[in-house]
Amino acid sequence: MAVIRIAAAGDLHASEASRERVMRAFERVESEADVILLAGDLTTTGEPDQARVLADAARELSIPVFAVLGNHDTHAGRVDEVRAVLEEAGVHVLDRSWKSCSIAGLEVGIVGTKGFVGGFPGSALPDFGEPLMRSVYAETTLEAEAIGKGLQEIVHCDLRIVLLHYAPVQATIEGEPEGIHVMLGSDRLATPIAEYGADLVLHGHAHAGSFEGHIGQIPVYNVAVHVTGRDFWIFDLEGARGHSAVEVEGPGPAV
Ligand SMILES: [Fe+2]
Ligand SMILES: [Fe+2]
Repeated sequence: MAVIRIAAAGDLHASEASRERVMRAFERVESEADVILLAGDLTTTGEPDQARVLADAARELSIPVFAVLGNHDTHAGRVDEVRAVLEEAGVHVLDRSWKSCSIAGLEVGIVGTKGFVGGFPGSALPDFGEPLMRSVYAETTLEAEAIGKGLQEIVHCDLRIVLLHYAPVQATIEGEPEGIHVMLGSDRLATPIAEYGADLVLHGHAHAGSFEGHIGQIPVYNVAVHVTGRDFWIFDLEGARGHSAVEVEGPGPAV
């Protein structure tokens, strides 16, 4: 049975100030993993120059890099430029979309999107009232629908991964003040994952959150570097047709 090594990190918040650390982390992880997944907040404030730091780190890598954007990456209103800088360096930026790649003879499908806010039972935003509030609800609906559509489209893949920035479960944001849980994710993002299935779900955003959660039997990990305490966390995903199992391999290289 083939094992895919996945290096995951969220919330790198790259900028010129962290260039050396980012470059070194990517160089070191290249030999430890088959694929790199970045769970958003790639930049500090969404400036293309900050994205260039990540782009430079990813450009020469021999392994594929997939990324979703985070809320910080949208802050400067220059998402198209940030995305272009990353894509020029070969990073696959997923936004309500999916891609697949072949690793060790297995087809690995990755559904990626930023996700959005909305909260969890007890504090969830309703679809009610002012148009502005209802448009927030509608935005999360679009994210959830994209996850469901993507999972249906990669149903043929041997391994299926969902890559988000916002949390789909409350367990992985535990540790954050309850008052901001509504801003950290939404359980509505978990609904399509529970319905269509996946082998692994990764997100970031909740810097003070918790590492591990579940959607039914599906493992969910908050891979924000503030949570993992490492530049990358390495997951071993074991796959064969009709079967998969995730092993938490332990910390990736610390810099
Ligand atoms: Fe962040
Ligand atoms: Fe964030």
